[in-house]
Amino acid sequence: MNDFIQVINRYALQGEDATRAQGLHEQALQARKVLEDGTGEGNDFLGWLHLPSSIDDQQLTDIEATAARLRQECEYVIAIGIGGSYLGAKAVLEALSDHFAAYKAGNGPKVLFAGNNIGEDYLHDLMTLVDGRKFGIIVISKSGTTTEPAIAFRLFKEMLERQQGKEFAARNIIAITDARKGALRNLATQEGYTTYVIPDNVGGRFSVLTPVGLLPIAVAGFDIRALVAGAVEVEKGDDEAVINYAIARNALYQGGKKIEILVNFCPRLHYLAEWWKQLYGESEGKDHKGIFPASVDFTTDLHSMGQWIQDGERTIFETVLSVGDQQHEVVIPSDDADLDGLNYIAGKRVDEVNKMAELGTRLAHVDGGVPNLLITIPALTERYLGQLIYFFEKACGVSGYMLGVNPFNQPGVEAYKKNMFALLNKPGYEEQTTALQAKLKG
Ligand code: PA5
Repeated sequence: MNDFIQVINRYALQGEDATRAQGLHEQALQARKVLEDGTGEGNDFLGWLHLPSSIDDQQLTDIEATAARLRQECEYVIAIGIGGSYLGAKAVLEALSDHFAAYKAGNGPKVLFAGNNIGEDYLHDLMTLVDGRKFGIIVISKSGTTTEPAIAFRLFKEMLERQQGKEFAARNIIAITDARKGALRNLATQEGYTTYVIPDNVGGRFSVLTPVGLLPIAVAGFDIRALVAGAVEVEKGDDEAVINYAIARNALYQGGKKIEILVNFCPRLHYLAEWWKQLYGESEGKDHKGIFPASVDFTTDLHSMGQWIQDGERTIFETVLSVGDQQHEVVIPSDDADLDGLNYIAGKRVDEVNKMAELGTRLAHVDGGVPNLLITIPALTERYLGQLIYFFEKACGVSGYMLGVNPFNQPGVEAYKKNMFALLNKPGYEEQTTALQAKLKG
């Protein structure tokens, strides 16, 4: 595995951080054992651990066939979901797609996302875009009751049925949800939709390698077999990098580095960082503990957050996600007048400049007191993304157990929902409504 993903050795940490890291090695191995033996808290949500190797040819063929149908019949496919029911697919699509795919005629439907916010204008604009067009819907909700995707689904389902007829809609709406329970399961059964199951023992943020991620990725035309194969390589391989990463971040946290910033120098990785933030934030942020996962896109954010990172409060560390090769070459031309003074880099690839920006930034931030972990992958391909996804998932499980939390629940996400339901007078929330009204009055 270390041929593909390399994590800077934990002993590259300096001073007390390095000493602390060495002291955590046994604890990390113990945490890994607890995870693999299934003896820790949240052990009913370990379905992701051997998920990659359990995906068989039949399952992939079935997903590919559904994707092919949507690709053939639809101009757009709207993937509706939020949190773990959206971020994995979004991350992989962004990492693999042409940056300007939205503006170019493509081969196959454009995959768009909805239900990941309650923005009225967002929904309006998307509805306007697909108005009168043949579109499909992949509606994804494990609970089947989440408000954001439920609103979006109600809107787009009504629109599709009205414009293209119930038969077209029923054929091109795919529901991915719990095997038995929830409003979405009931609705899918009633309408006769094609469905896929999110296994009971796989939490949302660990579900990208289930149909939750695989179907939208296949609809966009990417190779889900290579994605899964990459994940299997890490599942079956040497997990030294997993252990190193889990140790390093816990050593730094114990030394007062409360914020981890995932850094990329590659615009394709913005949503990979969003996925990572959910994975680590929801897994570790509990019991008043946990590293705050943040992210920046460099060099863009060097011109906004760079000052803070170089010089602000020293409670941060960075994990740089470094990509070896770009897919395309662009060479900086020479200019006779050289009025912009750029001839010193004429003839170099843009990526060479970017790599020097990356190295220069890392050195500067280490000098500024920001410990710097490095994760490298050779290129953004399905295979390497599959490796990276599983790497982060397993490291998250190990790291969470080292921290002493249950990495597989998310009780804190319910608080806002209760208030929102009470404020909207949802039946069953009358007591909370009264309590909130009293609080708001003062
Ligand atoms: O990781 C999680 O469990 C959450 O972020 C969920 O993915 C998110 O709330 C969406 O839930 P559901 O799939 O039930 O609609």
